[in-house]
Amino acid sequence: MTPLSKRTIATVGSGVMAEAMIAGLLRGSLVEPTQVVASHPRPDRRDQLHREYAIRSVASNTEAVAGADVVLLAIKPQMLARVGREIGPELRKGQLVLSIIAGATTAALTGILGHDQVVRSMPNTPARLGKGMTVWYATPETTDEQRAQAKALLRALGEEIEVDDEKMVAMATAVSGTGPTYVFLVMEALIDAAVHLGFPRHVAHDLVIETLEGSTLFAKQSGMHPAELRNMVTSPGGTSAAALHELESGRLRTVLSEAVWAAYHRTVELGDQLEAAVSESSRPHPGS
Ligand SMILES: NC(=O)c1ccc[n+]([C@@H]2O[C@H](COP(=O)([O-])OP(=O)(O)OC[C@H]3O[C@@H](n4cnc5c(N)ncnc54)[C@H](OP(=O)(O)O)[C@@H]3O)[C@@H](O)[C@H]2O)c1
Repeated sequence: MTPLSKRTIATVGSGVMAEAMIAGLLRGSLVEPTQVVASHPRPDRRDQLHREYAIRSVASNTEAVAGADVVLLAIKPQMLARVGREIGPELRKGQLVLSIIAGATTAALTGILGHDQVVRSMPNTPARLGKGMTVWYATPETTDEQRAQAKALLRALGEEIEVDDEKMVAMATAVSGTGPTYVFLVMEALIDAAVHLGFPRHVAHDLVIETLEGSTLFAKQSGMHPAELRNMVTSPGGTSAAALHELESGRLRTVLSEAVWAAYHRTVELGDQLEAAVSESSRPHPGS
């Protein structure tokens, strides 16, 4: 028996990320197609999901949610107020809502859904390949069984870490959530530098991609601190020493640190805006 045996999973907002989870769950035989129902407003998308994964797909979010053990909420943040109001009344005690919506705090989620068994998670883009890193927080009202379900579901996207302080999800949004952006920019800059040196672009691309992948694998498998690894390849008066001098005088570490702080502040700001929008939309309108 696994945490997802005989459990039904509904995906609401069945786009790129929900599909990555469905594909990962089925690939790992964690669930049968009959355990999954996806709702989507577009008929072509419903047909595609049904054809590719043999799962049930429905037009109505409330139909998908009714009776599901876990509801994956993977709509865009701006849809939260509308979809939350729609599915909230269908939710019953015992159902887990697993949100991957960037910036959506548990206060915003529980407020709009009127449901307190909620997980807030932050995956990242490599989740599309099952190579993501997700940080997640569960409200105190969730049961051990529901946390085990959340863990199993998020494993379908790659690695996961549960935190007991929700602030860490916002912090992770700035590090691992936004992290691929930093890496892609460094990747692009190195490729351009290699082209500037005289390499054809496709060669420059391969040199950089393989170097980044190999270095990451080396750091992961050796378990050594990056400074140790860097010292290993920095010989006195050598090429690495010359390059490092330039990187330090360009304040690379400080710039990266400032970028992470900026992303963190923006995450908190977006979370506050989402909470305000959700509470505004829950307030009865005059005359209604
Ligand atoms: N992509 C990432 O790498 C990543 C990483 C971390 C977190 N996230 C979060 O994950 C969530 C989903 O991202 P995504 O990249 O999967 O976006 P996406 O592909 O746009 O998925 C959202 C889906 O919701 C559908 N939708 C629109 N209105 C709906 C409604 N009223 N009811 C139900 N479904 C509706 C959209 O349909 P249409 O296609 O017709 O618009 C779309 O298929 C976002 O909140 C994002 O912040 C994404």
